[in-house]
Amino acid sequence: MATLFPQGYADGPAFCNRTSQRAELITLIKNSRHGWIQGRRRIGKSSLLRQTILDIEKHHSKSIYAVHTELLSAYDRNVAVRLILQAVAEVTERVLAYSEKALKNILGTFSALKPELVITAAGPKLKLSIDKEQNSVKDALLALDQVATEKKVNIALFFDEFQQLGEIDHGVSVEAEIRGALQLTKSTSFIFSGSIRHLLEQQFADDSRPLYKQCQRIDIRRITRKDYIKHLTKVAKLHWGVIIEKTIIEEIVQQTDRHPYYVNALCGLLWLRDGPPSKEEVISTWHKDIVSSDYSAYQRTLSKLSTNQNIVLSNLALSPTNQPLSSDFAQKCGISTSSIKQSVEKLISHDHIYRDGDGCLRLFDPAVAAYLRVSLQ
Ligand SMILES: Nc1ncnc2c1ncn2[C@@H]1O[C@H](COP(=O)(O)OP(=O)(O)O)[C@@H](O)[C@H]1O
Ligand SMILES: [Mg+2]
Repeated sequence: MATLFPQGYADGPAFCNRTSQRAELITLIKNSRHGWIQGRRRIGKSSLLRQTILDIEKHHSKSIYAVHTELLSAYDRNVAVRLILQAVAEVTERVLAYSEKALKNILGTFSALKPELVITAAGPKLKLSIDKEQNSVKDALLALDQVATEKKVNIALFFDEFQQLGEIDHGVSVEAEIRGALQLTKSTSFIFSGSIRHLLEQQFADDSRPLYKQCQRIDIRRITRKDYIKHLTKVAKLHWGVIIEKTIIEEIVQQTDRHPYYVNALCGLLWLRDGPPSKEEVISTWHKDIVSSDYSAYQRTLSKLSTNQNIVLSNLALSPTNQPLSSDFAQKCGISTSSIKQSVEKLISHDHIYRDGDGCLRLFDPAVAAYLRVSLQ
């Protein structure tokens, strides 16, 4: 059950849709091109990477080798380099099918990285170490690419929480090494993702950074209403063996505003029941068990906003609109349209609000929206 609505990565039966982005990633990988995944916090970027790895294992296991590396724990340059070298070693072992002989044969390819072959109970392991201050990452990536090209396979390196490199001393030099490799590799695709949107944007859209214009941007937004209804109907049937009423699913989708983190948090509780919940049970679980469990966090978030931003946010919680500069909305807010404009821009750039597919401005966090509606009404 827990696996149907994970709080961590979703993949397999827990994963809903994103078919076009999964296909786009596979196309990039097959063509050794590069991408960066742009999307807000907890929208499902890492899950998309995990699911794409499952897709690769299922449909391209002999031709593509992918590895997902989280860089969040890279508190300094050395740790970042070590994590990347580990990923390179792991994928090399897989490409060479854990053959001791084949791994021994390629040690020369990695000669700049003090390569060692360690025999463990789980099979032969390739160990790479930082031999010198510079170029370890570039050397490792180029050596891996050489192995892949010789074997006629594609490599996909998924670097997640990549904004971390912009946060640590000399992290940008690692970005520069990756760029150096990325421009020379023939069989490797680099896919970057991260959870702090504006930092990641600087890494790929700022012309002073090494990776500027090197990667195709892949946007991920909320899963559509239609896709979520289909997915939840399917997992309800899987779990309870019955077709759940559409209005109940619609209520879940409505309350959580299709935010995948909250859909999973709410459904994780609802699916503990012996049978499908009623509409009233959906609403009460949402308010009692999800929204009210985190009041202090919402208050902390709101206390960091200016008065005008708070006014705009509260009014958008009560009535989402696609015309925040209309006289009607300005009247509700009781502040000038220029102040509204400024606040909207700040709220968007800090991910407090977003423009939905229908053009409406809504709060990014449906629990904060619910909290504001309850406290204002
Ligand atoms: N496509 C999806 N289908 C179902 N649940 C998802 C999907 N994408 C993300 N989730 C859920 O949403 C939450 C956040 O996902 P995560 O991949 O960690 O987001 P991000 O990396 O963007 O911060 C998790 O609870 C995860 O299980
Ligand atoms: Mg993530």
